[in-house]
Amino acid sequence: MKGMILAGGLGTRLRPMTLVTNKHLLPVYDQPMVYYPIKCLVNAGITEIMIVTGEENAGDFIKLLRDGKELGLTRLEYAFQVGEGGIADALKLGRYFVDDDKVCVILGDNIIENNINDAVEDFRNQKDGAKVLLKEVHDPERFGVVEFGDDGETIVNIIEKPTNPPSNMAVTGLYMYDADVFNICETLKPSSRNELEITDVNTEYLRRGNLTSATLNGWWTDAGTIESLHRASNLIAESGANKV
Ligand code: DAU
Repeated sequence: MKGMILAGGLGTRLRPMTLVTNKHLLPVYDQPMVYYPIKCLVNAGITEIMIVTGEENAGDFIKLLRDGKELGLTRLEYAFQVGEGGIADALKLGRYFVDDDKVCVILGDNIIENNINDAVEDFRNQKDGAKVLLKEVHDPERFGVVEFGDDGETIVNIIEKPTNPPSNMAVTGLYMYDADVFNICETLKPSSRNELEITDVNTEYLRRGNLTSATLNGWWTDAGTIESLHRASNLIAESGANKV
């Protein structure tokens, strides 16, 4: 399985810091933000990865990560996303890197306490389709959120940033796909925020009956706002997580 870390976008919610550097190079406690998703993939045995970044300061990723060997990577490729057309737009750039393999995608600002090793192992054994990782949150309107059927566990819908969330279960920024994901990305239309939405990708797998899910253990946070960046640093400092 290959890995992709999506680290494009403009990071407008972290201005002024992101006027002079890319969001994913900012410190989260004692390490640059992008180290955390890299270590998460390496922990799960995924050492061939592509980092998608873009626009200002893209070259700084190469200065920091070089060939990735120091972080345990066996292959590190970089792709440049022009503009910020959305998460699924960034994902498109992995088509030739992933080829006909499976891919584990992590949003560059998502940080977890534990690991995703069991979920990755389950997806290695899943014939095809997709797998999403869920986590209960207190502010579901900020995320992609799942709606469950009458049995309380079958996912029947996924809604991006719902005004009236149907549950507290967020779809985290850790996804696993078969190579068909790149064909699905080509069919997407921009959303009202003018982005190709990853939720539309996941909804297509759901429609096909080929989406599985697992719930993350331990804490999970994004680090894309001042509050969540601060929280992420505190969580790392307090728990000692990710000390690989
Ligand atoms: O954090 C999980 C949430 O991430 C999910 O629950 C949502 O379904 C998903 O849409 C996403 O929501 P956000 O609106 O918080 O995503 P954001 O625009 O902050 O982008 C998250 C990361 O994705 C960002 O750190 C870098 C990458 N990205 C984003 C955009 C818009 C790119 O690489 N390129 C892009 O064009």
